[in-house]
Amino acid sequence: MSDKPHLNSEYKNIIVKEVDNGNALKTGLIQLNRPDALNALNIELMKEVVDTLELFDKDPEVGCMVITGNEKAFAAGADIKEMADASTIEMLLRDQFARWDRIRKIKKPIIAAVSGFALGGGCELAMSCDMIVASDSAQFGQPEIKLGVIPGAGGTQRLTKAIGKAKAMEMILTGKFYSASDMFNAGLVTKVVPKEVFLDEALELSAEICKMPTIAVQLGKESVLKSFDLTIESGLELERKNFYLLFASEDKFEGMKAFVEKRKANWKGK
Ligand code: CAA
Repeated sequence: MSDKPHLNSEYKNIIVKEVDNGNALKTGLIQLNRPDALNALNIELMKEVVDTLELFDKDPEVGCMVITGNEKAFAAGADIKEMADASTIEMLLRDQFARWDRIRKIKKPIIAAVSGFALGGGCELAMSCDMIVASDSAQFGQPEIKLGVIPGAGGTQRLTKAIGKAKAMEMILTGKFYSASDMFNAGLVTKVVPKEVFLDEALELSAEICKMPTIAVQLGKESVLKSFDLTIESGLELERKNFYLLFASEDKFEGMKAFVEKRKANWKGK
């Protein structure tokens, strides 16, 4: 029995594991587990996901996280049945998407391993991650328009920033589904792989990141994400300050010394 609360909890909608990848740091794995509803993201599931991401973020044994679904569905969107009868005031009071904002505060990288449907909130959850590894059977879409609404968990903003106005407008206004290779070509997806190995490939990418010095990884992630909010001037300032900040880390001295001495670096994570 682990003493880590996220590994002991009896989650109803997700399966949580730490995957040993042969490095000092492990991968924190979250599998969405409502297969009968194509992993529709109900409020309880999202609470479990966000709470677990925060626990992994604080866990010194974890270097990177992977969120996945199953072969048929990453997630087919927010739970429509939970919203079908809701009024504006109920939705305002529920404020269910506020929880999603906490994903933006996670410091360690998160990879979405996507197979099958990534629709609506499912596509938005994948876009809230830092990279998407997609199986060749993955289908991405923002079909909210067909329900009489629009994306509500970041889709209009993140999709437009990731793939540009022309394609984002088409996706959001038609609700059509797009293949993994379309979305790779559009710049949404990091890598497309055969469906048999999509999770292994995502775990392999995570293992590569787990080999890297953690503070540099986190400041690299922060600097890239800030490029969405900042002007080029302010973004370059932030990058430079983060670059100089890393000269205070023990890993910077070790990394450069190891290069000069032609040996592998021994990271301390500080
Ligand atoms: N919410 C709740 N339940 C869902 C769901 C969703 N988003 N997507 C699928 N399900 C359920 C179905 O109701 C069905 O349950 P029952 O067996 O109890 O009827 C089960 O999952 C299987 O689904 P289908 O029978 O429809 O499976 P299919 O293979 O025929 O079709 C699909 C698959 C094309 C993905 C279809 O299920 C579908 O269109 N789903 C809805 C997609 C969608 O509109 N997503 C956006 C939701 S709104 C949103 O996400 C807002 C936001 O921005 C956050």
